[in-house]
Amino acid sequence: MDHFANRSGSLHAEDVPLTAIAEAVGTPVYVYSVATMKRHAEVMLDAVAGCGSGEPLVAYAVKANPNGAVLRVLQGCGLGADVVSIGEYRRARAAGIAPERIVFSGVGKTAEEMAEALAGGVLQFNAESIEEARMLSAIADAQGKSAPIGFRINPDVEAGTHAKITTGTADNKFGIPAAEALGAYAEAERLPGLKVQGITVHIGSQLVSIAPLEAAFRRLGELIGALRAQGSDIRLADLGGGLGVPHGADQPQPALPEAYGAMVRRVTADWNCRLVFEPGRLIVGNAGVLLTRVVRVKPGASHPWLIVDAGMNDLMRPALYDAWHGIEAVTPRGAKATVNVVGPVCESGDTFAMAREMDAVEAGDLVLFRTAGAYGATMANGYNSRPLTPEVLVDGDRWALVRKRIDLSDCAEVDPDWR
Ligand code: LLP
Repeated sequence: MDHFANRSGSLHAEDVPLTAIAEAVGTPVYVYSVATMKRHAEVMLDAVAGCGSGEPLVAYAVKANPNGAVLRVLQGCGLGADVVSIGEYRRARAAGIAPERIVFSGVGKTAEEMAEALAGGVLQFNAESIEEARMLSAIADAQGKSAPIGFRINPDVEAGTHAKITTGTADNKFGIPAAEALGAYAEAERLPGLKVQGITVHIGSQLVSIAPLEAAFRRLGELIGALRAQGSDIRLADLGGGLGVPHGADQPQPALPEAYGAMVRRVTADWNCRLVFEPGRLIVGNAGVLLTRVVRVKPGASHPWLIVDAGMNDLMRPALYDAWHGIEAVTPRGAKATVNVVGPVCESGDTFAMAREMDAVEAGDLVLFRTAGAYGATMANGYNSRPLTPEVLVDGDRWALVRKRIDLSDCAEVDPDWR
């Protein structure tokens, strides 16, 4: 469910006409709906309420959309944060998220990052190798602290999503193989400065079926029993993120959060662990659109090329993962047309959709890409010396620019003395 709807002939974000935002800020621009984010946060919190022992923590995966204004809204909804860099950690803290509601994930945490997060406080470091645990042990020992740690398990489960966002198979870089878990925990228990307390798994993103998640969680459950038998006091199980969002009526429909919550309740009933969840896309994906303007329509061999002023640098998902995004005219003219939707970047990969039947539009018309609230602005870059796309937050009839357009061209300056 989202709050982008047509009212009297033109699409609005909540009560604000998108035409007004495009007029004031220019295009391309990301537009987020506060009501949609709040709704999704509530749906997730409700879905997992009462799961596990103690209060479950929904730690929003900051990577999906790290905008400070977005983080503040989600903090207000009671979400914690899953961070994967010290930059994300700082953003989460700046948004008011308490250290004991932050988990630190990521396969390549540096010593500097771990030292700062340990000093500032975290609920848990999700370590991805015994080598990382050894480094954390040395840092914690030097700070005279005890670092809360859990290992990320690679359950070798096929998630059934795009290969580039699959993370839990033996050929992925993430986590430690289940078969090596007992050895890793035994060593970690002997290392100074570590409080071995948890376990975690994350097998991929935009998952449509919850069956692979269930298989991964069952694997985790077996390990929790074995680890306790070996002497580790596992109290916290972090089940990662990954639940997909609907992209359109004729696209694959992912399992609903309620079904996910029911599965978790069933699988974890006898774990006696506090549970953590790390949803990203589920919270913000459908809470954002990318608003763009048609630069021109150019004849093509099979279909016209609809050239918009957003490019693959602004929204990378179609180019990277062949992702499907709904594309609509902001003020539909009534007719439909079959077109190829492309950006201005000098690569053939700068293609949003081929042979897409959509609202007929003309040069100068506004168009939007749906489901762009997650992994949109945050993955944007300055390729082709294009500025970073601005971001706007809408709340009812109010809206604000929450990140301005950033022109990177002045960063190309070189030292004038350099020859
Ligand atoms: N936890 C961990 C450890 C993760 O690596 C991720 C996502 C999440 C949680 C959140 O997953 P979500 O609930 O959002 O599916 N750029 C790609 C998605 C990459 C996801 C990376 N990790 C895309 O645009 O589809």
